[in-house]
Amino acid sequence: MKPAPGFVSWQDTLAAGLNTQRMGRAFRHLPECSSTNDELAHWADEGAPEGAVITADAQAAGRGRLGRAWHSPPGANLYVSILLRPSLPMMSLPPLTLLTGAVAAEVLAAAGAPARLKWPNDIMLPADGRMKKAGGILIEAATSQGRIRHVIVGIGLNVGPVDFPPGLREIAVSLGNLLSPPPSRMALLQALLNTFEAAYEAFSAEGAPYALARWRRFAWLGQLCRVARDTTEVEGRAVGVDETGALLLEDKDGKRHAILSGEVITKL
Ligand code: BTN
Repeated sequence: MKPAPGFVSWQDTLAAGLNTQRMGRAFRHLPECSSTNDELAHWADEGAPEGAVITADAQAAGRGRLGRAWHSPPGANLYVSILLRPSLPMMSLPPLTLLTGAVAAEVLAAAGAPARLKWPNDIMLPADGRMKKAGGILIEAATSQGRIRHVIVGIGLNVGPVDFPPGLREIAVSLGNLLSPPPSRMALLQALLNTFEAAYEAFSAEGAPYALARWRRFAWLGQLCRVARDTTEVEGRAVGVDETGALLLEDKDGKRHAILSGEVITKL
């Protein structure tokens, strides 16, 4: 079907606001898909170049970390996946989540939203007297024979006014519930890709210290947390990240625990 006269596609609009070499230069926008991360993985297997991006208006099976579903109603939010083809060892990848969070926080700050980052992948905003989740990052890698074939950086950002279902309402928020009017999804996407490209290049050259320094500027620290670890739980105050990107929790005896993975539950 031919576009109506005057119709401007996502494709044309995106390109007009990019100052990147690679990020977003190959681009597909889908009205709906299961998950933009899955769509991009297929495209990557067909040879999509580094920097290829897929966005969708809605996801039928959007997913988050730890196998959780990602609330992906139509039209309101940004669901974006970016393809990377790094020549880095797998062990260098975890700080990429922190770097991507920092990029998102910088973009939100420029849009007037004071984002903070909850380790490892949550983008938080102050709402109703507490911090609520406005976005998240899901990085997935495909490997063969121990080498990275590709990496997909998935970002979900709640943008429009969203009426969250009970259960999410208490913990989630959208820019559109805080800013009037909220920035457009397109403006956010362009800013994300423009900022991400330079950040990713610096990370590729300088490694984890670069990602950590950038993440620390927006880190949400000082809160009491509980983390499940094997058969035990650690409770303590989030005080920072170590040089590998692990979260440091300080317990009531002043002992520091490095948390490499798991769900961090914020104690209120
Ligand atoms: C999380 O907070 O646990 C991560 C959420 C990541 C959601 C994004 S939306 C775009 C991309 N596609 C997905 O299925 N997930 C990510």
